[in-house]
Amino acid sequence: MHNVDIDLVEMSLDVIKFAIGRISDNDPQLGFPKKAEELKALVGETITPTGIGGEKAFELFRDVLVKASVSIDHPRHLAFVPASPTRAAVMFDLVTSAASVHGAFWLEGAGLIFAEMQAMEWLVSLTGMPKGAFGVFTSGGTEANLSAMVAARENWRSFSPTKQRERGIVIASNGAHSSIAAMAKVIDADVILIETEDRLEGNKLAETINELGDEERSRIFAVIATGGTTNSGIIDDLAGIANVCKKEKLWFHVDAAYGGAALAVKSVRPLFNGIEQADSITIDPHKWLFSPYDCGAVIYREPDIAKKAHSQEGSYLDIFSDEGAKGFNPSDYQIQLTRRVRGLPLWFSLAMHGTDRYEQAISRGIELARIAGRLITEAEHTELVREPSLSCVLYRRKGWRAEDYRAWTYKNHKSGFALVAPTKWRNPDGAETVSRFCFINPDTTEQDIADILDSMR
Ligand SMILES: Cc1ncc(COP(=O)(O)O)c(C=O)c1O
Repeated sequence: MHNVDIDLVEMSLDVIKFAIGRISDNDPQLGFPKKAEELKALVGETITPTGIGGEKAFELFRDVLVKASVSIDHPRHLAFVPASPTRAAVMFDLVTSAASVHGAFWLEGAGLIFAEMQAMEWLVSLTGMPKGAFGVFTSGGTEANLSAMVAARENWRSFSPTKQRERGIVIASNGAHSSIAAMAKVIDADVILIETEDRLEGNKLAETINELGDEERSRIFAVIATGGTTNSGIIDDLAGIANVCKKEKLWFHVDAAYGGAALAVKSVRPLFNGIEQADSITIDPHKWLFSPYDCGAVIYREPDIAKKAHSQEGSYLDIFSDEGAKGFNPSDYQIQLTRRVRGLPLWFSLAMHGTDRYEQAISRGIELARIAGRLITEAEHTELVREPSLSCVLYRRKGWRAEDYRAWTYKNHKSGFALVAPTKWRNPDGAETVSRFCFINPDTTEQDIADILDSMR
């Protein structure tokens, strides 16, 4: 299994041939899921005592399995938050694995962690946070939000021994991503979701806090604002929320997992004013910064607070604090110990292309949202639900009900044409099912959007 032999050579050629073909493919198949029973019938039992051989396993992957999975970078995949990793980043993801480096501790990963840190410095510079702020790459936004909230909660508990057993409260708006509720379950905290279908304003936050009783107020340890909601790209009133957090002495976290990339775009940067006052920020390179899965990031205003919360101890880890091993240990700042050097594909692509090309590619997502807004308004069968925000567009097909949207989504997906999923938007009459675009891929064209809208006629 660990030998270098003819099987290895043949398997490597298969893998590299596929990788080059896929990475240079301008027109990937969209892919559609099959039921597990169908896949079982096509693939059979692949895990056997003697193995089925690399050639056979690869054939099954190439001819069956990958085709039953969606190509997230398809230019007409505009559902959820899609992705569009640069070709350089994908290639370097292969290299990151091939290099076989442990990314948790400087002692083992110094050179590659150093490269990750340069990419991180650029990310931090976009936020405008003060000197000393720094972060680490995580498995995604969920882990970044969780790591930030563990740091916030531990920091809050450190102020008073009576808080050690107290269940904390975080405040967010109902526009916050589902990972916030998931995170709160993990850390056994309560969440107060402020009802608003639009941006969360500082005064609404202050009002909510003022309405709480003393007991609840004493348990609040953090406020989570969103820098680009997943559903509609709304950026909360970050400056107003920062002021309230300062007054109430609360940890201010900004979940900019999706929208944070737009900090690189000068024309929309002012919408994020106030983010520089955050105690922690989540930004996912695997969303709008063109990294392959999986790569999120969490940035801390005072990384030492996160280190106190996260660094693991054990006699087998003692050596990592020796003078000879001194350096930045990413595992000290998030919940994961062993980690791949997951920021490396971003680093390589940034180093190769430069930050200007990133700004242009991110701007294209915003431009595509504006183009979609125009096309939707011009067509007689569609209308905007609200103005496009960042790269998200919510729109309705006049006269359609929830089941029409669902049937249209499946039809387009099944035929390999497009994947555009419905969502809900709350209005005075309740929650309305509408359609939603999220643009990440700069290769999506105006014609793609027009064709998708046409398919709703
Ligand atoms: C605003 C926001 N936060 C957090 C997440 C969760 O990120 P991940 O799926 O990388 O864990 C998402 C995912 O879409 C998101 O849009």
